[in-house]
Amino acid sequence: MASVAGDSPPVKARGLVKRYKDLLAVDHIDLNVNAGEVYGFLGPNGAGKTTTLRMLLGLIMPTAGHIELFGRDPIREGARALDGVAGFVEAPRFYPYLSGRKNLRMMAALDGLGARARVDEVLDTVDLTDAADKRAGAYSHGMGQRLGIAGALLRRPELLVLDEPATGLDPAGIRDMRVLIGRLASEGITVLLSSHQLAEVQEICDRVAIVRSGKVAYEGPLADLRGAAGNGYRLHTSDDRRAAELARTTPGIHALSVGEAELRFDASERDAGALSLALGAAGVAIYRMAPTLASLEDLFFELTEGGGAAAHGMATPDGTAPAGAASGGTAETTERAAGTV
Ligand SMILES: Nc1ncnc2c1ncn2[C@@H]1O[C@H](COP(=O)(O)OP(=O)(O)O)[C@@H](O)[C@H]1O
Ligand SMILES: [Mg+2]
Repeated sequence: MASVAGDSPPVKARGLVKRYKDLLAVDHIDLNVNAGEVYGFLGPNGAGKTTTLRMLLGLIMPTAGHIELFGRDPIREGARALDGVAGFVEAPRFYPYLSGRKNLRMMAALDGLGARARVDEVLDTVDLTDAADKRAGAYSHGMGQRLGIAGALLRRPELLVLDEPATGLDPAGIRDMRVLIGRLASEGITVLLSSHQLAEVQEICDRVAIVRSGKVAYEGPLADLRGAAGNGYRLHTSDDRRAAELARTTPGIHALSVGEAELRFDASERDAGALSLALGAAGVAIYRMAPTLASLEDLFFELTEGGGAAAHGMATPDGTAPAGAASGGTAETTERAAGTV
């Protein structure tokens, strides 16, 4: 792929602000997306994800701040800075009475650059060949999302920006979307995607920014976030009662709970390892010791909903719930409470 990039990163944003009257929708956000990575822009509804992506794509003006895409400024340089960048925010839009293929042909005509010759190829990439002649208006939500990606791929992007591509999809659709994004990434396309569901995207993201109320609460690899949080573990042994006694006296083992058929605790990898040695020395056989993702989910939840940001040494949240998060948040809280030990 001919590089438009040089050595400049796909996205470098500094101090991005977007104010709507009294509302700071985006409040001094810094973002760094490196070439070749799948970058997750995560946060609850109303956190400012779409607004940020709109600014990156030059669709709205920032109130303040600076953006570079491959070293070029979309605010000062306009469309020229968007060479090699494609994507959509909220939902892709099509002519519902035209087929998927005709929609892409129309986009290709606007894009030029031999895009028309690639219509069939991109339909194939997103697995819409069989449905290419159906009316786009009759597409399922997932097919519409994939047609949107196909439209973006016509431009041979080096950076693909996708706003909540997995939201509203059923589990099979989410899996297909993950596979598609993984395939595009393996072809060298840098992907910036947003989501309000950590679980939907955590497997495919190399790095993430977690936003809350317009501020970045965390930016970095998910593995580091997990490391900082300490892993949750489930443990089943030949003698769980004895194992619980040992766990209580092993430094670094927290939040121990004893269930019917297993123990649960939080610990760093090293402290969990120390417990395994102590169990062995005491003649207790480990049948199963498995890290759980629950603590990462919990941390995401804390960072985005609770008072957790301050506890993790990050900027103190302003305490107001982001608009639009209230109803979803309540349902999730109930669900989580039910599933938490
Ligand atoms: N055009 C607009 N005018 C006024 N408020 C807006 C506008 N666009 C977004 N907002 C507000 O900005 C905040 C962030 O919205 P948005 O970026 O859409 O969040 P997300 O994509 O993370 O769900 C929300 O409180 C939203 O209501
Ligand atoms: Mg949004």
